[in-house]
Amino acid sequence: MTWSTFTPALRMLSRCALPSTARAICRRLGPTRRGVSNALHFYSNKQLELYASKEAKRLTLRQLVFFGRSMNEERLITSANYVRTELPVRIAHRLRDMQALPYVVVTQEGLAKVYELYWSAFDKFRRYPQVATRTENEAFCKFLRSLLDEHSTVIPNLSLGLSLSSPYLAPDRLDSFMRRMLVSRISRRVLAEHHIALSKDYESRRDGNPHSDHVGVIYTGLNVRESIERCTNYLRDRAFDVDHDMPEHSNIRADWSEVVVDGHTDTQFPYIKEHLDYIIFELLKNSFRATRIKHPHAETLPPIRATIVSGENFVTIRISDQGGGLLTPQIKSPSDLFSFSHVRNATRMEHSRLGALRTVSSSTKGMTATVHEQLYAVNRVDAPDRSTPHPRIGIGLPMSNIYATYFGGSLELVSMDGFGTDVYLRLPRLGTNLEGIEL
Ligand code: COI
Repeated sequence: MTWSTFTPALRMLSRCALPSTARAICRRLGPTRRGVSNALHFYSNKQLELYASKEAKRLTLRQLVFFGRSMNEERLITSANYVRTELPVRIAHRLRDMQALPYVVVTQEGLAKVYELYWSAFDKFRRYPQVATRTENEAFCKFLRSLLDEHSTVIPNLSLGLSLSSPYLAPDRLDSFMRRMLVSRISRRVLAEHHIALSKDYESRRDGNPHSDHVGVIYTGLNVRESIERCTNYLRDRAFDVDHDMPEHSNIRADWSEVVVDGHTDTQFPYIKEHLDYIIFELLKNSFRATRIKHPHAETLPPIRATIVSGENFVTIRISDQGGGLLTPQIKSPSDLFSFSHVRNATRMEHSRLGALRTVSSSTKGMTATVHEQLYAVNRVDAPDRSTPHPRIGIGLPMSNIYATYFGGSLELVSMDGFGTDVYLRLPRLGTNLEGIEL
């Protein structure tokens, strides 16, 4: 490719001291899409600066509930326009973040795809006209849904790109970049899904169907024990998900650990059900798997214990297993399991994982077809094909950590080496913490 094939926008980017990034992205896109994206970049770049200079208007879970609780048409339209104007600001911050990456990182497989998806979404949002009526809101919700679907491959693509970039980025820089990308993505999806759900609820209330257990995506009295049971049942149905890549598979008995739930088993608190389900699902899956591997010939597998404690400010869930602990020759400290850098977590560059990531990131269904969007699969009748194992792409724990910390909670892994693991999940019960997104 010669310089003359670059677009004015990319030249402009190059003047902004970003030539290598722009060139790398251009190369990755290929000739056809380049044409489309070139024009896009030219007109959007100044806009990008404008939007990136604005601060995100962060919200608390409580604000989301209070605003959505007494919905009327005016509030619904206000919600639509908040999402319409807020999402491009949040996307612009991440586009600037990606532009600041070194050349060698941007050239990695997966990253250009994400960059292009974000450019396109940013451009569509900033051009989207003001929403003024219920009919326009319906169209806006369809627009949001199509973008949510279009972005279903973002996480495996990002993860692939960052894993391949690992040799070129210091672990702290890599992990903080990935964290910003993931938290920001969660925040955008929450706002979009929340608005779609509020709109749906509002319309069905007008049709005479009242809703009482949730406001948008937030369940006002989310029952923790039920979440544990829901995830346990789902995992029992999909034993092969836990087993399928274990070499010892054929020797292992076909039974399961019992999951014992104790403590404050009637705990309820306001939270996003899909987030809680996601975390619990990942933690239980890891515990089931570790216990099975540690005790391949046991008559009865040791139980997994889930203890729920309802405190004044936090709901704590401890999941204890006897799966042997977390440390391996590749993992020196439990928190390294949250890292995307191969320096901290050598499994990041394993061929099998990179292969699985390539498969998922090129699938049209993307994440919705994998374990990583169990949030939508756990309860749905149109859940992904139950006979196909979910590929192990190694982002369940880091994503759980991000979900846990998004509204000010925490996830702590304690390995009792040789015996088992205790995981402590703490989620704020008052919903007064702002979203944990960074600029
Ligand atoms: C994402 O999923 O990455 C998004 O940014 C979704 C948003 C465009 C609705």
